Amino acid sequence: MTDLLSDMLARREPGFSLERDFYTDPEIYAQDLEQIFYRDWLYAIPACQLTKTGAYARIQVGAYNVIVVRGADGEIRAFHNSCRHRGSVLCKARDGQVAKLVCPYHQWTYDLDGRLIWARDMGAEFDPAKYNLRPVHLRNLCGLIYICLADEAPDFEAFAELARPYLEVHDLQRAKVAYSSSIVEKGNWKLVWENNRECYHCGGTHPALCRSFPLDPEVAGVSADGSISPRLQAHFDRCAAAGAPAQFQLAGFAGQYRLARMPLQETAVSYTMDGKAAVRRPLGRVALPDAGSLLKFHYPSTWNHFLPDISLTFRVTPIGPQETEVTTTWLVDKDAVEGVDYDLKRLTEVWIATNDEDREIVEGNQQGINSPAYLPGPYSPEQESGVEQFIDWYVRTMQSRLAPRAVAAE
Ligand code: FES
Ligand SMILES: [Fe+2]
Repeated sequence: MTDLLSDMLARREPGFSLERDFYTDPEIYAQDLEQIFYRDWLYAIPACQLTKTGAYARIQVGAYNVIVVRGADGEIRAFHNSCRHRGSVLCKARDGQVAKLVCPYHQWTYDLDGRLIWARDMGAEFDPAKYNLRPVHLRNLCGLIYICLADEAPDFEAFAELARPYLEVHDLQRAKVAYSSSIVEKGNWKLVWENNRECYHCGGTHPALCRSFPLDPEVAGVSADGSISPRLQAHFDRCAAAGAPAQFQLAGFAGQYRLARMPLQETAVSYTMDGKAAVRRPLGRVALPDAGSLLKFHYPSTWNHFLPDISLTFRVTPIGPQETEVTTTWLVDKDAVEGVDYDLKRLTEVWIATNDEDREIVEGNQQGINSPAYLPGPYSPEQESGVEQFIDWYVRTMQSRLAPRAVAAE
């Protein structure tokens, strides 16, 4: 399979969408998991989702099942959700709160730091220290929890160093989850990303979002030659002068992540129907009300929007070759009171509508690609540079990970 896949990657035509099998084939999907999702850093949850000791979130990535849990010492850790006795899952719920992690099968009991602290009738020789939960790599970047499933995690620091100054002003350690939604899109995870990386579709699809989000292709994508218009540069400079780093940055292997604080529509300051702030008590210290939205993406698992009043995180989780979960979390200041400082419907309606509209077009995209008559089609050079950038990243990442093995096998 990997030889066939390498050939397909090599014959990919730049400027065109991928061949059908990339979006449909279960074996390519398995390779996407193996080479990308099982190896890269993945955004999991905002740290503030786990407020109390013992609060946990369960995250499924392909075959892996992970628990992210807050310990008695306040530290957030991640473990494989598989008991060290005979392998049962420990936590079945999507989230919850526990005093200890107790296996439902024979009640082996683990402390929140993963140590096995109780196992019945295991004999005098039994050494519980050998059977602690298997840890999963975890980083807390300014209140954003990332995990990595690989035995040896790739470098995280280069990304963290670049992102930290942009994120710090948003004070995510002061955040609380106002709302979270998970939807399943019946489309390959790459189609979800491709759709995210252009706003060619926005005018015809997103009436609510278009009240605040600009249709300027420079905002959603990248300019073909990497240049920045004087208007956009002036916005970056104004934000930076007000203490909110804004400059466009595309970095990491083949442009794996981007940071840029982009302007919204002229009079808009947040993603609301009237463009006004969604929350009266802002989350963070961005002094410029019209600083716009800090757009961050980090392939393959997350895009985020950080605004002067709220922050939004999106997590992309593949479920199957033609099924992807998108989890959106709305973060507000922990002292903001629902019904007083914000109205939940007003806060969430634009992105709930937008996500559902995107779900529908991604599903339509998948259905059309499922036809044997589908042929790769050309990207708009003016509108879809972001899609091409994503596909370039995907192709080069897969090539770089498949190639060494192909060589080793020779
Ligand atoms: S499998 Fe967990 S205690 Fe037996
Ligand atoms: Fe969209």
